[in-house]
Formats: sequence, structure tokens, C-alpha cells
Amino acid sequence: MDFDDYLRRVPKVELHCHFEGTVRPQTFAELAAKHGITLSGDDPARLYDYDSIYEFLKIFAQVSSTLIDREDFARTAFESIEDGVKLGNLVYREMFFNPTLHTKRGVPYATVVDGLIDGCRRAESELGVRCRLIADVYRQDSANEAADMVREVLEHRRDEVIGLGMDGAEAPDPPEKFIEAYRLAKQGGLRLTAHACEDAPAKNVTTCLDVLGCERLDHGYHVLGDPEVVARVRDDAIVFTTCPTATAICYFTDDLTEHPIVTMAEQGLRLTLNSDDPPMFATDIGTEFAKMVPAAGWDRERVREICLTAVDAAWEIGR
Ligand code: HPA
Ligand code: ZN
Repeated sequence: MDFDDYLRRVPKVELHCHFEGTVRPQTFAELAAKHGITLSGDDPARLYDYDSIYEFLKIFAQVSSTLIDREDFARTAFESIEDGVKLGNLVYREMFFNPTLHTKRGVPYATVVDGLIDGCRRAESELGVRCRLIADVYRQDSANEAADMVREVLEHRRDEVIGLGMDGAEAPDPPEKFIEAYRLAKQGGLRLTAHACEDAPAKNVTTCLDVLGCERLDHGYHVLGDPEVVARVRDDAIVFTTCPTATAICYFTDDLTEHPIVTMAEQGLRLTLNSDDPPMFATDIGTEFAKMVPAAGWDRERVREICLTAVDAAWEIGR
């Protein structure tokens, strides 16, 4: 087996993947037709076309708006996991979803979560892959909306929903805005993560760890701007769930040899590789490994280390 095949086939645990960002363009178009929703273009392949997080988030919301019935969530959750399995030998995933992108449109939280769980259960029985769920705070929501979201998650407690995360545009809305949401989640027994230092300085990592109580972090690139924070996260063995392609498109250059992930690894930080929003950035979990590993010059031993870091940082493997 050549190195590219090995990278695509090595069994993968994925900890940074957004459900709403995994909807196939064809399914997006079919669901829009099913619900009579007009899209901003005819060609499904061209719907996913943007070069900033702000443009991306608009399409992300448009995709979400086509998910209405429990069956829509079940179908797309199953397809999302199936793509991970077929394209990258996914064996376990902890997947984000944004409750308020749906509840604000009038879709009940129970419809969302039970549909997702239907899809995850089908994937577990047909594909042998377990998927757990992480409810994400949407940073552009108010602090009260986020806290109410957490209350709703806890009121509709499901074993499959194991954590709280945070996404959306980072620069305008810092993590300390959501202290109350994180306090409630911790009190309710949810595990904690957050997108941090995707598009903001290193102090956001410190806030997420020390103020919000996060156990692992998503992205983390701008931690490199502060050597003291780098030393601290190295000493504390914090795991960063990095996403090469999506962030190369939104923030960095296309050339992955220059991606901050390379320097993070050189600095001894613990990291995992993930697909983020795979079809929305024309990628998949196999391709993320196949592109990032050669660009960084990593060998098989380093690949093993990255895969095992994800096993180690996962919250529900083996339970
Ligand atoms: N960052 C911020 N918001 C997002 C992301 C991301 O990686 N994916 C989906 N929404
Ligand atoms: Zn993300």
C-alpha cells in the first residue's frame, strides 16, 4: 500500500466535524426542493463557494434551513457518517451541531436531536461506527440565547449528547461572553470544548481553559503568537483538533506546507486532524490526512501518534 492509500485508510477518530457542514450538496438541493426552498443558484456544486468564514457561515445557515423534519436530520446524519467511513475509514466521531440554527427557525430541539440520533443509530448498526454529539454555542447568539440552549439540551437529556462546544465567527465574539452557558453545561455533566484561536489571539485559549473550563480545544493556530501560552498548553498536554483545508481557505494560504499546524507540531503541541465541514470545503477526512501529512513532512510514526491522540482525547471511546 502506498503512503497516500495508507493515509486514506488508516482508521480515524474524528473530533472536529460540524453536522450542518457535512450535508452533501446533492442532498442539500433535494431537501430544498422537498420543502419548496429557493437556493441562490442552480448548480449544487457551486453552492459551496466562498473564501471567508463570514461567507461560509451564510451558506451554513442556508443548508441548515433545509433541515426541517426528523427524517431530514436522520438522513443527513447517516450520510455524513457514511461519507466519513467510505472516504477515510472513520471509526468513531464526536460531531458538533448548532441547536439554535434550528430552534430559531421553529424546529423543536427534540426533532433535531432525535433525528440526529436516529441517523447515528442507523450508522452504528449498518456501518459499525459510533457517533456522539456535541451541542455548539453559536457565537453570534446572545449570552442568554446560549444559556437557554444549554438549559434545553439538559432538559432533553440524551445519552448521545455528551458535550458543549462553541463555533461561529470568533473575532467579534470572545469566549468570555458565554461563561454562563459553560457553567450550566459543566454543572449538568457535559464535557467542554470550544473553537479558539481560529481567528483571534492566544488569550482566547487561556480564557477557554481557565474561565470556561474546556478540556480540549478546536483549531488553536494563533496560540503560536504567544510563546508563554504555547509553553503552557504543551506542559498541560492540551489537545487541539485542527482542520487543514477549511482554515487554509478561510484564513491562510492554500499551500499546506505553510499552515500553522506544521509549526504547532514542531513546537510539541498535541493535535489531531479533522475535516470540519467536509463537502463545504471539497474535502473529506481521508483527504485531510492525504494532503496535510506529506505537506508537513510527517512519517508513519507521527501519523500513528496523531491517530492515537484522537483516541486519547475522545470522550466516549470504549464506554
Ligand atoms: N469555525 C467557526 N464556525 C464554524 C466552523 C468553524 O470551523 N465550522 C462550522 N461553523
Ligand atoms: Zn469547526
